[in-house]
Amino acid sequence: MSKKTVISMAVIRRLPKYYRYLGELLRNDIERISSKELSERIGFTASQIRQDLNNFGDFGQQGYGYNVRALRDEIGKILGLNKEYKTVIVGAGNIGQAVANYTNFEKLGFHLIGIFDRNPKLIGMGIRDIEVQDVDNLESFLKNNPADIGIICVPKEQAQRIADAFVKSGIKGIWNFAPTDIAVPEDVIVENVHLSESLLTLSYRLNESELFKEKIGR
Ligand code: NAI
Repeated sequence: MSKKTVISMAVIRRLPKYYRYLGELLRNDIERISSKELSERIGFTASQIRQDLNNFGDFGQQGYGYNVRALRDEIGKILGLNKEYKTVIVGAGNIGQAVANYTNFEKLGFHLIGIFDRNPKLIGMGIRDIEVQDVDNLESFLKNNPADIGIICVPKEQAQRIADAFVKSGIKGIWNFAPTDIAVPEDVIVENVHLSESLLTLSYRLNESELFKEKIGR
């Protein structure tokens, strides 16, 4: 990651989980929740939740707990969800199409405005209501249609080249699906997505008892 954060990344990475759980509570018409009950649902201790939220203000009330809607709105604001973002995808293969087709991102305020690829077979194809364009048009497109977030879904050998084009076009946030570290200037933020890391964590956990057989007495 390029830019340093004021709040620790561990706290920041928990915020989307709070946001999601609070959204679920609202969908179940739960408007108020004690910190104990919230902690049981989310799986963090009540003091962890209090500490996390204290970084941003004073949210709960002694003896009342949390107002679910107000807390969700506040966390939404902290996550920047009170704004709208324009996104472009480069690489219209498996991952690019999957991301493009996931319409829930739109509901959160992330609006896909362009998809690019270099494969003539894909150029001109429609994904949702967006036509895949030749990647050679990327920079001129971004000049006329500035975007906030660039999404990299190309093979790793091509990722830096696409990141450079994004940076040159003024994009400040890059969501990188390619399994490689990309170099960007200080003021550009890269968030890497690694499904395989999550899968390997799962396989570790499936096998952990084998590794520590003696310690856990099995
Ligand atoms: P894919 O081969 O289906 O799609 C890649 C697309 O990128 C192709 O359509 C290709 O024509 C296009 N492309 C290649 N170079 C380009 C360039 N310079 N400009 C524009 N388009 C270009 O591959 P897939 O499965 O969608 O994977 C894409 C990337 O995502 C790969 O780097 C892969 O390793 C990564 N990946 C990451 C995962 C994760 O957890 N983050 C999971 C699976 C894949």
